[in-house]
Amino acid sequence: MKVLIVGGGGREHALAWKVASSAHVDRVYVAPGNAGTVREPKVENVAIPAGEITALLAFARSARIDLTLVGSEVPLVAGIVDRFDEAGLRCFGPSGSAAALEGSKVYAKSFMDRHGIATAPYASFSDLHAASAYIRAQALPLVIKANGLAAGKGVVIARSAEEGVRAASDMLAGHAFGSAGQEIVVEGFLEGEEASFIVVSDGIDVLPLASSQDHKARDAGDRGPNTGGMGAYSPAPVVTRAVSDRVMSEIVLPTIRGMAREGRPYRGFLYVGVMVAPDGTPRVLEYNCRLGDPEAEVILFRLRSDLVEIIEAGLTGRLKKIQPLWDQRAALGVVLAAAGYPGLPRMGDVIAGLDGEHPADTAVFHSGTAIKEGRIVTAGGRVVCVCARGATVSEAQSLAYARVKKIQWQGMYYRPDIGYRAVARETKEADP
Ligand code: AMP
Ligand code: GLY
Repeated sequence: MKVLIVGGGGREHALAWKVASSAHVDRVYVAPGNAGTVREPKVENVAIPAGEITALLAFARSARIDLTLVGSEVPLVAGIVDRFDEAGLRCFGPSGSAAALEGSKVYAKSFMDRHGIATAPYASFSDLHAASAYIRAQALPLVIKANGLAAGKGVVIARSAEEGVRAASDMLAGHAFGSAGQEIVVEGFLEGEEASFIVVSDGIDVLPLASSQDHKARDAGDRGPNTGGMGAYSPAPVVTRAVSDRVMSEIVLPTIRGMAREGRPYRGFLYVGVMVAPDGTPRVLEYNCRLGDPEAEVILFRLRSDLVEIIEAGLTGRLKKIQPLWDQRAALGVVLAAAGYPGLPRMGDVIAGLDGEHPADTAVFHSGTAIKEGRIVTAGGRVVCVCARGATVSEAQSLAYARVKKIQWQGMYYRPDIGYRAVARETKEADP
């Protein structure tokens, strides 16, 4: 079969790599892809941006694509799945109305209220005066969020009322995120440890994927501005069996049932960002209507089963029959970013060290890369994600950073401490 993957980041490179390894698949097209996808066996890039649904549909028809997977949230929220469905083409992901769980934080918060799903207390505003008065009356810290899509950057954690009012004002005035910020959510700060809990749903049944943990802050020790994610690892030790059971019964299943009841049945990948409180109570930080990036890279690097078979089961309501096999080892991924990220990144620098002999159990998934005059150059904020598998997170971490050391370009930046929480746990267990 022929598969089309929509997007051009590290998540889509990992998807293309994994899908191409399926015995069912002859050819994989990635729109638009990057310099990494184009180098994978069986894979080719198609020069159509992920947001151009009409062009993607025309391509899928003319190339006789059997299955389309959508990596990024922008086309999902814009209704790509509805358009493909209408045309009789198979496209795995939520409809535009179901993708509102990510596309509108105001919808997501009110949905959780209606269905008794635990999350931080909140209020929503489109008026700055009302928002400021509310912010000044709340305990600190407070979290200010743009309602719409902001590439993982529309969240400000305010430690003072002034900071909160400034963030609200930036968003509501349209300076920071355009129309995505015309409405905001102000919510209470949740204490605990974060985890990414990603599942596949066919609208009724749910298959949980391996747990993972992302590092959203730019700098070591979780400092600096929020980014799309600077690294991840899987599994996340904070998601114990008991926590996983609670996330499923208190969050994921009520979400899938609630969406069906609201006439927006949810099919596709569902990503729940959870904060696990010290007593083990999980609460929702955010929903995403797709796989995470860089979570997808480490999760897919551990998946031993055929992803296409899982997705086929999701499309035909047979998820209950699927039991995926996971590599029991841990996987860890370090994002190498361009100078300036998460602001406007420096681009066009030649990347050295991608080729040559590399240790087994490592992989480099490309995000913002392009080919210019036959050389691979930086073309985005997050440039590559360097992944490794190891018996422990500590082992995966050493192997990943050893490979990171071989890669270089002008202004390359990365966090030196991806996986630090899990490594600290492992060290404590080994030497109590
Ligand atoms: P979001 O895009 O909503 O997940 O927010 C981005 C990041 O901000 C999250 O991954 C958390 O690290 C942090 N965050 C968001 N909401 C809260 C909250 N209510 N309490 C504490 N941290 C939060
Ligand atoms: N890594 C966080 C996200 O994909 O939203």
